[in-house]
Amino acid sequence: MPLVSMRQLLDEAAKGGYGVGAFNVNDMEQIQAIMEAARETQSPVIVQASRGARAYSQDRFLYHLMIAATEVYPELPIVLHLDHGNSVATCKSAIDMGFTSVMMDGSLLEDGKTPSSFEYNVAVTREVVEMAHAKGVTVEGEIGCLGGIEDGHGAGGDGLSHLTDPDQAVEFVKQTGLDALAIAIGTSHGAYKFSSKPTGETLKMARLIEIHNKLPNVHLVMHGSSSVPKELQDIINQYGGKLKPTWGVPVEEIQLGIKNGVRKINVDTDNRLAMTGAIRKVFAEKPEEFDLRGYMKPAREAMKKVVAQRMVQFGQAGHSKDYSPIPMEDMAALYKKEAVKV
Ligand code: G3H
Ligand code: 13P
Ligand code: ZN
Repeated sequence: MPLVSMRQLLDEAAKGGYGVGAFNVNDMEQIQAIMEAARETQSPVIVQASRGARAYSQDRFLYHLMIAATEVYPELPIVLHLDHGNSVATCKSAIDMGFTSVMMDGSLLEDGKTPSSFEYNVAVTREVVEMAHAKGVTVEGEIGCLGGIEDGHGAGGDGLSHLTDPDQAVEFVKQTGLDALAIAIGTSHGAYKFSSKPTGETLKMARLIEIHNKLPNVHLVMHGSSSVPKELQDIINQYGGKLKPTWGVPVEEIQLGIKNGVRKINVDTDNRLAMTGAIRKVFAEKPEEFDLRGYMKPAREAMKKVVAQRMVQFGQAGHSKDYSPIPMEDMAALYKKEAVKV
């Protein structure tokens, strides 16, 4: 089946009361790892690419790898989503290429660093909504800013400086007409999120629940949701890596989020850790290895294991055949008739 709308996947997830992992990719092995995990667990799929990933892969290559995924895994609904679009132009280029979902992250200015004003965020997000919905493409927006900086993108700090204001979130949804809302509840991008295991207090789960109560029909998105498992850190360090001790977002807290309106969960770092650990292990144990398949295969397998585990933990496993995909043109017609509402 062709690439599908993220809105449909999230609407179905809301009906079924589960969450859908959105996994970042940069290359073929990562796409294959996600697709194999999805086939094994019978899961709907969201693959996402950041600006950095699009630049790294010369995004046309990435796009065609995703088309290959739809051919090799025709039984699975697959979304191609732009992660953290920094401007209307970036979102437009993704839509023109065939992405079926985009994030307009207007919580930061175009430099991807400076927190923006509410008015700026509304204006750019609304513009993307108008452009995207005309083609049936889904739009994710963000209100509040995460902590940390990944590849030059992020407000920095510890994730607590720009938490989402629940009333502003309500106004933001009303004024933009978006499909999914990323909120800031204390998480950060990258491996260094917390210096000890976070509780629901550290993570501001009460704030998430307050937002959900005010916006019960809005699909919430949790960014910075890697769990940074100690086992994955240990493998890297055991084979010559130098990660400092760190904690991520416990899966139980994500599951509490899923019970309270979270439908999309962004995970990148855990997969980076899994692949890096597997490669380091081969290099340490077989220093004579120089065939890249000798280390890329275990790396792909290690990522597949993490993704399959998350698909089960988020509840999307077993749901790939629940619905038939709505063609993108039909989604566009539904938006036009205002039949798809927040
Ligand atoms: O939002 C951050 C994701 O982990 C993507 O990271 O911009 O380094 O590709 P990246
Ligand atoms: P992690 O760094 O926690 O994997 O977050 C990824 C993310 O939010 C991508 O948008
Ligand atoms: Zn993110």
